[in-house]
Amino acid sequence: MRTITSTRAIQLWRDAEAGSVGFVPTMGYLHQGHLTLVRKAAAENDAVVVSIFVNPLQFGPSEDFGRYPRDLESDQALLAGEHAHVVVFNPTPEEMYPSGFSTAVEVEGSITQILEGAKRPGHFRGVTTVVNKLFNLVRPTRAYFGEKDAQQLAVIRKMVSDLAMNLTIVGVPTVREPDGLAMSSRNVYLSPTERQAALVLSRALAHARSLWQDGERSAPRLGSAMLDLIAREPLAKVDYVSVADPTTLQEIEGTAESALVSMAVFIGRTRLIDNTTLRS
Ligand code: PAJ
Repeated sequence: MRTITSTRAIQLWRDAEAGSVGFVPTMGYLHQGHLTLVRKAAAENDAVVVSIFVNPLQFGPSEDFGRYPRDLESDQALLAGEHAHVVVFNPTPEEMYPSGFSTAVEVEGSITQILEGAKRPGHFRGVTTVVNKLFNLVRPTRAYFGEKDAQQLAVIRKMVSDLAMNLTIVGVPTVREPDGLAMSSRNVYLSPTERQAALVLSRALAHARSLWQDGERSAPRLGSAMLDLIAREPLAKVDYVSVADPTTLQEIEGTAESALVSMAVFIGRTRLIDNTTLRS
């Protein structure tokens, strides 16, 4: 397994790579969710690039950029165990954003203004700027993103479509711990008590799914049932709960035919997100 840190070297590597390239952009501190993306990329392409870069542009001033977990050695060991032709791209912030860097790529409109975008101003602008630059460097045939970050996936798809980028975006279902908690690098912030309390997110989604299976189609009622359930967990504080159109991400006011149910919930100081899609 090769690790590349400079933008020039990854471009040269790509110039020499004749086959298809699957790309998995990450911020590192890899878990089985990330590795599932890597495995899919390996199964569908000749070579795989995994970027490990904690992107300062997508963190707000009061967010966790400084303390975001990092462990390059453990990430490399996990990727080395994948038996695929994997290249790790691990640039420094200075390499990605040299002094004088002043370009941004932004998907405008409600898709980036609602939900995560409303709570984290500038977040998606940071994501699309880095992902665009990474796409230019890696020139992937296919790029893999988790449904865990459903809005991010929708925003990336919009950027790729609007700018006619020549690659395929592949969405991958959320990987969970055996008890239901969605895997996330941020789960490491949770104390044992908080780890238990964090199950409230997947429980709320399961509750919505079971109401849906029993025929409930009222978006407001699905939303308030989840809020009621979360309110019973003392360590949880809701940031938002949403029942939205899976394509536009617009909030559904009345009856739903299908729905992206998503939420952000603070467990202590840790902000966790999760979602599921309900279809008839
Ligand atoms: P990060 O949070 O490291 O996630 C990297 C990729 O792994 C994303 O596509 C994310 O949706 C996916 N992922 C995370 N947890 C997952 C899980 N439990 N199951 C399935 N997929 C999961 O998302 C980012 O980094 C950044 O915003 C990035 C796209 C790299 C741009 O900086």
